[in-house]
Amino acid sequence: MEKYIIEGGRRLEGSLQIQGSKNSALPILAATVVTGETSILRRCPDLRDTRAAMRILRHIGCAAERVGGQVIVRADTAKRYDIPGALMREMRSSILFLGALAAVFGRAEVSSPGGCAIGLRPIDIHLAALETLGVHITQQGGQWIAYAPGGITGGQVALPFPSVGATENVMLCAVRGKQRTQIRNAAREPEIRDLAQYLNACGADIRGAGSDTIVIEPVDPVRACEYTILPDRIAAATYMAAAAMTGGDIVLRDVTVQDLWPVLPFFEQSGCRVTTQGDTLRLRAPHVLQSPNPVRTMPYPGFPTDFQAAAMAMASVAQGTGVFVETIFESRFKHVPQLIRMGAHITVQNNVAVVQGVPVLHGAPVQATDLRAGAALVCAGLAARDVTEVQGIELVDRGYEKMEDHLISLGAGIRRIVQDAE
Ligand code: EPZ
Repeated sequence: MEKYIIEGGRRLEGSLQIQGSKNSALPILAATVVTGETSILRRCPDLRDTRAAMRILRHIGCAAERVGGQVIVRADTAKRYDIPGALMREMRSSILFLGALAAVFGRAEVSSPGGCAIGLRPIDIHLAALETLGVHITQQGGQWIAYAPGGITGGQVALPFPSVGATENVMLCAVRGKQRTQIRNAAREPEIRDLAQYLNACGADIRGAGSDTIVIEPVDPVRACEYTILPDRIAAATYMAAAAMTGGDIVLRDVTVQDLWPVLPFFEQSGCRVTTQGDTLRLRAPHVLQSPNPVRTMPYPGFPTDFQAAAMAMASVAQGTGVFVETIFESRFKHVPQLIRMGAHITVQNNVAVVQGVPVLHGAPVQATDLRAGAALVCAGLAARDVTEVQGIELVDRGYEKMEDHLISLGAGIRRIVQDAE
């Protein structure tokens, strides 16, 4: 187990460069398989999850290596279509290899994916969508067995919910389709746009990514390509929250400001001054945060569920009462009991949390229950009086690159303790 020891109460100030997006890098790493060529991915964040994706790539026969901030994948040597449970269970996005392997080999054998414990996270929408493309999937002994004997046909895919992963699975599979594929009710997240731009850089012809209707023309994307991954909008929002909670003044470089539009009103309602210039953003926090308007998480361009936990940590030290409605995942309030241990006043009824702000939190030993909950507890620890211990930061490492280094560069008192294996 690893933990952070955080000495709270220090004002964050300075500047930092935002990492590449975890939720863009992971589908793109899976998509390298369908190109069958060499991809050089710049600004690919070095995370537990991207390292897990690289292990899967190597397992199926690709070469995948990190050279500084970029990852080079050679996919022409891919030769296996099975992924063992130990590799699949490391993260949710391993399910994207189901579509990729079915597209390349006409078959795939994978177990159910892992991922943060924020809900049941079924894959029914993925499976139904891939069936529409001609991929027949059965379950045998905990394994998903996919067959596409006639290849990927393509077709009309109507998603019952704009699932990010299901949209990505269809996109990367359909680039090998024999006919046009149209996805209706597609997810509109910026990471979808990034995946399309990567595949188009490899020779695909995908239009409409970022809207609710995406069209994938049948071409054989065989070009090798170099691609720079999108900046991580959730990491950016998380560091903004850390600065906001410590009365700080920070500058973030390499952000895509338009991807942050869904959260900027939240910061401004909280009393922060946010100014932007090109791909640079500055946040100046007030002495005392104000409670924001009620927050309801929604698919993009709504308020992102991945920022709900850190936003709630912010609201817990604001003047007034904040309300959070979590509409995407059925179990994404696990940070609440941990924040309460630090003195927050939060009540939860079903998917609604009411946060009565308190003047200050106090340090306590707390437990990260998922990636974003862990990051929210780090933010709370930075703002709290005295010392906070955040256990289970392996979860935070899944999505935040060098978090303690970044925070220390902004003046935080934080250090990582690696405990002996228990
Ligand atoms: C992606 O997960 C992200 N992960 C999540 O980020 C993010 O919270 C989520 O999108 C929503 O924005 C990656 O990109 C790797 P969904 P995904 O399919 O694809 C239900 C983080 O912290 N659903 O849009 O799994 C599902 O249970 C992570 O970085 C089905 O019912 O999200 C959920 O309630 C956490 N059946 C809702 O839809 C399905 O087949 C949204 O899921 C698929 C999804």
